[in-house]
Amino acid sequence: MTSFPVSFYDSKPYDRQAFLEACGELPIAWRFHEFRLSEETAASAKGTTAVCVFVNDRVDAPCLRVLADLGVRLVALRCAGFNNVDLRAAASEGIAVVRVPAYSPYAVAEHAVALLLTLNRQIHRAFNRVRDLNFSLSGLVGFDLRGKTVGVVGTGKIGQVTAEIFRGFGVELLGHDPNPQEAWADSIGLQYVGLHHLLERCDIVSLHLPLTPETRYLINEQTLARMRQGAYLINTSRGKLIETRALIAALKAGRIGGVALDVYEEEEGIFFEDLSGQPLQDDELSRLLTFPNVLITAHQAFLTREALSQIASTTIRNLLRQRDCEPWLEGTAL
Ligand code: NAI
Repeated sequence: MTSFPVSFYDSKPYDRQAFLEACGELPIAWRFHEFRLSEETAASAKGTTAVCVFVNDRVDAPCLRVLADLGVRLVALRCAGFNNVDLRAAASEGIAVVRVPAYSPYAVAEHAVALLLTLNRQIHRAFNRVRDLNFSLSGLVGFDLRGKTVGVVGTGKIGQVTAEIFRGFGVELLGHDPNPQEAWADSIGLQYVGLHHLLERCDIVSLHLPLTPETRYLINEQTLARMRQGAYLINTSRGKLIETRALIAALKAGRIGGVALDVYEEEEGIFFEDLSGQPLQDDELSRLLTFPNVLITAHQAFLTREALSQIASTTIRNLLRQRDCEPWLEGTAL
């Protein structure tokens, strides 16, 4: 079997381990790059017909033009969201785009709930205090989840698992989705309502919808103003669903009880990187980090062993299928 090369961008040690383990003896020659794919770096794909990218690679029209000129025929996203790829430009360049539509929705849903529990019960602050031998409880008061109203915006795979986990806490569940899943909703006692109604009623709002031109800045000055005084907002989906400037204003005004973010609208070039030795250049992120009631993780909701292994297997299958190499999969665990 002749192995075929794949340029792999924004690669981290955990990606390399998961992909090499899943690939086994299959004839793919990975060219792992730590830098991200963009128009500026696309020349590095020379000699490959497929590229493998993640959430912050910028696969826009200029980048796709360079790739097409180099003979690249496939963009394999190793994630579910595809807002960073210009699909129309890819089609006109004759480049196919594949992704991993589903992998452990539990990884992301569990992280969303973990963020809320940490923020509400101030575990992050308690951890630091106790290690500093400060055993005072002042300022650490949280609230019971039981009896609260939780709104899930986007009840696809991840939103459904999130709602199911929250149900275990004895909350009232509201949902909003243009494609409601009525039978599922009935089975767990979730009621679908309009977005404004959901924002006005909920103590906790969790976002689980894709970023599209329609959903960009879904949470803005007007929608934030509709949220209940002291409500909590969780975003594990995409940063640009929230207008950061409006969120900061609402936090400064004391209107929002707490914000848990795994994504940030300008995360490209910041999240996934170790910038600990440098001054942070992003003023809005810097401001967000000063609020005691804001908890941020750097796009790690997907990061479980199970999710990484499913992402790797599906991406490898996607790559081989596009090359009509499916017979190679026979006898493998993929
Ligand atoms: P999915 O496609 O199964 O579900 C998305 C749901 O959002 C669908 O039911 C759709 O109808 C709904 N939706 C679309 N527009 C909407 C709107 N305007 N208002 C309300 N709902 C709307 O997607 P899945 O797998 O549940 O993922 C959701 C999002 O989570 C992805 O788009 C991705 O951005 C994000 N994600 C984040 C990860 C992380 O590590 N932080 C990892 C994986 C996904």
